[in-house]
Amino acid sequence: MNYRHAFHAGNFADLVKHATLTLLLEALRTDPSPLTIVDTHAGAGGYDLDGELARRTGEAAQGIFRLMAADDAPVAFDTLKAAIRAGNPGGGVRFYPGSPSLISTGLRRGDRYVACELRDDDATLLGQTLAPFPGATALQSDGFEVARREAGKGGRLFILIDPPFERGDDYARIAETMAAALLLDPDACIAVWLPLKDLETFDAFLRAVEPAGADMLVAESRLKPLTDPMKMNGCAMVIANAPAGLESSLTDVCLWVARRLGEPGGKGDVWRTGP
Ligand SMILES: C[S@@+](CC[C@H](N)C(=O)[O-])C[C@H]1O[C@@H](n2cnc3c(N)ncnc32)[C@H](O)[C@@H]1O
Repeated sequence: MNYRHAFHAGNFADLVKHATLTLLLEALRTDPSPLTIVDTHAGAGGYDLDGELARRTGEAAQGIFRLMAADDAPVAFDTLKAAIRAGNPGGGVRFYPGSPSLISTGLRRGDRYVACELRDDDATLLGQTLAPFPGATALQSDGFEVARREAGKGGRLFILIDPPFERGDDYARIAETMAAALLLDPDACIAVWLPLKDLETFDAFLRAVEPAGADMLVAESRLKPLTDPMKMNGCAMVIANAPAGLESSLTDVCLWVARRLGEPGGKGDVWRTGP
């Protein structure tokens, strides 16, 4: 496994993923009953954008730095922006929260958060990030397997699936995991982050998850036309059993990222699969 999220923290794709994550969590928390959250691919927890790895790519310059400086960002980004401000009390944008930081800071009494990371270095950092939160557990385990296991336990469930896509079978494993989890828990909310390279791969994935039977909400942000399949031309969130009422906020997020951070010809769109 070569992928380290520190190289990419705070890029445009993180903005789409993490704004969507905050919107989903807010909607799921309108129900007072306890929620179990499984983060199948958690990474280190949070990132130092002044660190060597982040500075080597500079991707945050075209992501979170632009968002925090913008005066036209939609309110759908407000919770993510508030998390950045909370993590940087002296001002500036040095520390960027990963999904574990965004999830663990909002845990309520009775909620559980299970975060999975396979790499030794990032698993150690993840454990440190989650240590202050009694409801959170860091596991150095395969996130796909943990998601299936948790789906059989009952109670309200939210699964975030955010693989690095460096293995040929990541798409297949996502589809298998969604199908298995939804079989055990048809109401589980499952959010998947995907890179958008070419339409064939994206369509094939949507067809692969169709048999899982759930209604899928798709939020996509294309920063340029999908003409070069070797590049990440955009990204998408595919959400099974999304809470009602998120379409408009997700559209605002996807459009802002595409228009402000993309090239002419980019687009943002939110739609549902199925009939
Ligand atoms: C895209 S990063 C995660 C970023 C994180 N979700 C966030 O938003 O802050 C993907 C991570 O998954 C880890 N990983 C890869 N395969 C895994 C697996 N089967 N189970 C758990 N973690 C895995 C990688 O080491 C990497 O740190």
